[in-house]
Amino acid sequence: MSDLKALKMSILGYGGMAQYHFERLSKLGIIEITGVFDTDEKRQEAARNKKLEAYPSVEALFSDVKTDAVLIATPNDWHREYAVAAAKAGKHIICEKPAAMSASEFDDMTEAAQRYGVILAVHQNRRWDKDYLAMREIAESGVLGKIYRIDSFVCGANGIPGGWRKTAKAGGGMMLDWGVHLIDQIFNFKRENPTSLYCRYSKALGFDVDDGFAAKFEYADGLTVNVRVDTNTFAKLPRWIIYGRDGTAVIEDWDLNGKIILPVYGSEVEIVGIEAGNGFTKTMAYRPHSSVTERAIPTPSPDCDAFYKNFVEAAHGKEKPCISTESVRKVLRVMELCKLSDKENTVIKSELANL
Ligand SMILES: NC(=O)c1ccc[n+]([C@@H]2O[C@H](COP(=O)([O-])OP(=O)(O)OC[C@H]3O[C@@H](n4cnc5c(N)ncnc54)[C@H](O)[C@@H]3O)[C@@H](O)[C@H]2O)c1
Repeated sequence: MSDLKALKMSILGYGGMAQYHFERLSKLGIIEITGVFDTDEKRQEAARNKKLEAYPSVEALFSDVKTDAVLIATPNDWHREYAVAAAKAGKHIICEKPAAMSASEFDDMTEAAQRYGVILAVHQNRRWDKDYLAMREIAESGVLGKIYRIDSFVCGANGIPGGWRKTAKAGGGMMLDWGVHLIDQIFNFKRENPTSLYCRYSKALGFDVDDGFAAKFEYADGLTVNVRVDTNTFAKLPRWIIYGRDGTAVIEDWDLNGKIILPVYGSEVEIVGIEAGNGFTKTMAYRPHSSVTERAIPTPSPDCDAFYKNFVEAAHGKEKPCISTESVRKVLRVMELCKLSDKENTVIKSELANL
């Protein structure tokens, strides 16, 4: 990282995520948070308590020449309007995910950023998640042979969080909240477009938005990826399962518990059958310990501040944004197609050729 001037940044929407950024950036020292604007007076007061300037209006924030950049951390239905206005005001932009509620909204944002010469960086922070990087490392290492299926599950037991996340108008629902991360991860791991997509939303909890979904992506090389989110699952499911021709890996959780299991082949390996319900099977029996070897899950150590460091470099014209707007748009488009698949209960194919 070169020795660049720290950026002065103001925050739009000083809620949960904005405070997370504030705490992280306060330690990092390359972006100085100076002010906020929030429509809720309590949040304005909370910002003043942190010695931040609480602007009386969004216009006042945008017209402050001291501010180099803004962080948009409002509910999702405000991202487009604020990003376009910030670009017009000449401010570089970090925008929380999902960048917008649709690909066409995002086009307005990228066009404005381009026209006014500012950086638009979308906070797809889960590209630096250790569990995701471990999954990639295992799949790409060849240890499991040819990979034919990957399951990416994120399940919670506490329903949809309160407030705007329960309403469609504000951009609520789990596809926009978590789907955007998990689909982004898969599309950055597997760069070619899938050949088919099928998605079903769940609305088990009775809100006007999805409380979970199951999406299936199929690829030309035979890989199937299942992405599943649920907010009403009371059993603990693994975060990742990677199925290869020569073994299986399970990453249980965010802390990288799990193992890589490789079968031992050879004439001395006896396939042992089991009693299974009201019958007997060899086919569906797991291997006994004596005929498998186990390896530990790798433990990547990503630089979790890389996003912020890159943003500062990009704002100074030294680097390209590490999250490309093309990759962000693609995921927004895929989420639209997931919605279409669910609505029409249909497999999407032709639309995937040109994402
Ligand atoms: N990247 C991540 O891991 C991650 C995690 C959580 C949230 N997020 C994203 O961050 C954004 C905010 O989520 P959150 O959890 O902080 O929500 P939140 O409800 O905690 O905070 C939103 C804040 O925006 C304020 N607000 C609402 N409308 C506004 C407006 N028009 N102008 C200014 N302020 C306004 C609210 O008063 C509130 O203080 C969302 O886009 C969400 O998807 C990202």
